[in-house]
Amino acid sequence: MHLKELKIGNFVAKVPIFQGGMSVKVSTAPLVAAVANEGGVGLIGGTGISVEELIDQIHQTKKLTQGVFGVNVMVAIDNFIEIVKASIEEKVNLIAVGAGFSREVFKLCNKTGVEVVPIVSSVKAAQISERLGANAVIVEGGDAGGHLGTDISVGDLMPGIRAAVKIPVIAAGGLVDGNDIADMISLGADGVQLGNRFVLCDECDVHPNYKKVFLEAKKDDLTTILSPVGYMGSAVKNHFVKEFLKNETDKVTQCTNCLKVCSRSFCILERLQMARDGDMENGLFFAGRNVYKINDILSTKEIFRKLVKEANEKLASLAK
Ligand SMILES: Cc1cc2nc3c(=O)[nH]c(=O)nc-3n(C[C@H](O)[C@H](O)[C@H](O)COP(=O)(O)O)c2cc1C
Repeated sequence: MHLKELKIGNFVAKVPIFQGGMSVKVSTAPLVAAVANEGGVGLIGGTGISVEELIDQIHQTKKLTQGVFGVNVMVAIDNFIEIVKASIEEKVNLIAVGAGFSREVFKLCNKTGVEVVPIVSSVKAAQISERLGANAVIVEGGDAGGHLGTDISVGDLMPGIRAAVKIPVIAAGGLVDGNDIADMISLGADGVQLGNRFVLCDECDVHPNYKKVFLEAKKDDLTTILSPVGYMGSAVKNHFVKEFLKNETDKVTQCTNCLKVCSRSFCILERLQMARDGDMENGLFFAGRNVYKINDILSTKEIFRKLVKEANEKLASLAK
């Protein structure tokens, strides 16, 4: 057994590895294109940016690659439909939809050549997605970074969802190396999605302090925090998170109404931007629970080489 290319609707990824979309300019053109050039699927973080910024990111990515890439967007954001429409007009390969469920996205993408890949955390959501026309689903477990739809691990979610749908299933959450990837393929996944691993990557153009926070994170430094979006979010326990967990509120000085519904317990956009810009104390550093297992910053090329080699070796040994 070995990793196989992955066909989803109209596109084929030579390597079945997705780089998870990461909001507020964590996954941008240089990273997305580098992943696509390795034969994987790159995803621009389409949340926390304007439509004009998204179009610019898509154009920049197209200049750097002819590979497969798309846009990840959260249903919960105010400009969700505009981001979806712009992605369709710009003819990206796919739209990965998280943090909520949208029926409209299926209608909008229908027959446009842009594939819809919802992020799900339950059998029911996977089945509804398939019925509405999803081309694949990303099954995200509770060890993932960012907003979470469950506290169940992806390993526990996989068998039920695999058995319930026929479309390709991409496993995500807490996967850091090729052994983890092989485990997911053995559970019936057609591909995998990684987030943390691609932050600790040369082509990820966040502030160097962002990578420092990731590299220095210990197992006990990861926690969950109730996001104003209404979902739990997995993040590094820095000064801001510790203070917020004590008081459960924070001053919101200005608001751009970036979310459809917001508890206003803190400004998530501002805190994620602070993290992106390297404010180690006051930023919100979304991170998956296994970030502490990654101890190096590598090029995208080297990450793919290692992941594929490790995964294929483990798959071969499992087949014996
Ligand atoms: C910094 C960061 C930001 C993220 N932002 C988003 C996002 O905007 N939308 C989304 O669907 N998932 C988001 N995620 C989740 C990733 O796309 C990916 O599914 C997840 O990180 C996989 O788990 P891992 O980090 O353990 O590999 C984010 C993750 C991280 C680490």
